[in-house]
Amino acid sequence: MRHLLSMADLDRAEILRILDTAVTMHEVQHREVKKLPTLRGRTIINFFFEDSTRTRSSFELAGKWMSADTINLTGKGTSVSKGESLRDTVRTIDAMGVDMMVIRHMASGAPAQIAQWTGCSIVNAGDGTHEHPSQALLDAYTMRARLGDLEGRHVAIVGDLTHSRVLRSNLLCLRSLGARVTLVAPPTLMPSGIGPWSDTDGFATSYELDDVLPSVDAVMMLRVQRERMGGGFFPTAREYAVTYGLTTARLRRLPEHAVICHPGPMNRGLEISGDAADAAQSLVLDQVSAGVAVRMSILYHLLAGEGSDQ
Ligand code: NCD
Repeated sequence: MRHLLSMADLDRAEILRILDTAVTMHEVQHREVKKLPTLRGRTIINFFFEDSTRTRSSFELAGKWMSADTINLTGKGTSVSKGESLRDTVRTIDAMGVDMMVIRHMASGAPAQIAQWTGCSIVNAGDGTHEHPSQALLDAYTMRARLGDLEGRHVAIVGDLTHSRVLRSNLLCLRSLGARVTLVAPPTLMPSGIGPWSDTDGFATSYELDDVLPSVDAVMMLRVQRERMGGGFFPTAREYAVTYGLTTARLRRLPEHAVICHPGPMNRGLEISGDAADAAQSLVLDQVSAGVAVRMSILYHLLAGEGSDQ
């Protein structure tokens, strides 16, 4: 495995290998001295053309804790803002001899394009509305840690599905792991055709969150992505919160064992109430914690593990 561009790059066995290695990495994360020599002498550039808190800092920590040299770049403050083309920018970085670029970009497909222009390993850290594979892997890791094997488990993915790269990667990942998925959204935010994702025989759709909640093992609330919305996808924020938000009242419809996930950043009071975000069933901070371990595992498998092309 050389790149991680899409969850379609990984089969079930590879997903399980990454999740299993992440368990070991999670132990390192809880040590006083968080350092493995594994990637000593390797160089990783985190190139984020779009804003990020969790993903960028966890990729940086993952690299540092594995002894790689890491550098962070953003669109602002690089020659991109002087009009340099994406191709020239990434070929410039590549010419310095880096081993990996972790790319977040507002254009769907940008990381795959960059993989063709450069000789280093490329990790997609979120591209437009397309995919966010490391997020799907950390979501799976977090749900498995609480629920065990996801085979046959029922996961509802709720909210702004049209604009969500987290959804698209999760559909592929959860299908590989044998989970049953129900997509819940208002009709205006339910994707009409979701390309390679729609050949899944594993997912159902619903417009009624209240009908779905009583049978879930996990509910994944997705952010309302206003920055990707040109027009009005719902009448008012209040109406959205009442109809599709995980409100305090709806918490009572969840089975006791069921867990709540949200990739962050959360709009409290819109797609998720403060009570739901902070409930004992909420795994939001477990997801953040798992994010570092899972990204350490991804770096390991791409740059050092058996089967890496390096
Ligand atoms: C997600 C993203 O950027 O795609 N966040 C994340 O990486 N944790 C989801 C979002 O922005 O809503």
